[in-house]
Amino acid sequence: MGELRTELLRGEEIARHVDAVADLRITVFRDWPYLYEGTREYEARYLDVYLRSPRSLAILVWDGDACIGASTVLPLADAGAEAQQPFRDGGQAIETIDYFGESVLLKSHRGRGLGVKFFDLREQHAREHGLSICAFCSVNRSADDPRKPAGYIGNDSFWTHRGYHKEPGIVASFSWPDIGEVVSTTKPMTFWMRDLGAAA
Ligand SMILES: CC(C)(COP(=O)(O)OP(=O)(O)OC[C@H]1O[C@@H](n2cnc3c(N)ncnc32)[C@H](O)[C@@H]1OP(=O)(O)O)[C@@H](O)C(=O)NCCC(=O)NCCS
Repeated sequence: MGELRTELLRGEEIARHVDAVADLRITVFRDWPYLYEGTREYEARYLDVYLRSPRSLAILVWDGDACIGASTVLPLADAGAEAQQPFRDGGQAIETIDYFGESVLLKSHRGRGLGVKFFDLREQHAREHGLSICAFCSVNRSADDPRKPAGYIGNDSFWTHRGYHKEPGIVASFSWPDIGEVVSTTKPMTFWMRDLGAAA
């Protein structure tokens, strides 16, 4: 591994490296629990809200010429309808919430603190934009799903250590094709949240 370089892109600047982010998402989310059969077409639609929001941020990490990690955030008010819907359904204001899209790292670069750095930079983004609540969602899969790899350790304790808690009543629906499928199916995704004003 060479020296790593972190690049911050905002709004339409993200277009410069949209394929790098797309390729990382397709590679990393192929694994459990996402099992995403990704395509560049799906990615272009998915990432479009980040390019159109002047308040979005994409964090890219480069190892030489290779993009080995990425993380995204934008105000929930600028995010897609799927992310906003559970808050609207619950009659909750969305204007104070910063929405974290994803963190994706190649396996070769995990366990070196980049995941923590992605949280720090995205929480800084929330503060810069005067947003007091950070939120992201995580796919629900059955604990006894036969596709779950033996010894899989999820991110729950990592997220809890960052001060986030699960909100079982706030569930979004996202659609993508599972591996080997062409047609998208709907997946429930439960939100995790942190109020930056409250003690962690
Ligand atoms: C989630 C992800 C971004 C985390 O990135 P990372 O750089 O590996 O994480 P870090 O090195 O910052 O470590 C995060 C925590 O895991 C712990 N950790 C890291 N590697 C570990 C290992 N091999 N064994 C046990 N714990 C480990 C760290 O100590 C840290 O713990 P803390 O909460 O006590 O601080 C990365 O694992 C990933 O891309 N996973 C696949 C995609 C995914 O699930 N994304 C999140 C949802 S979008």
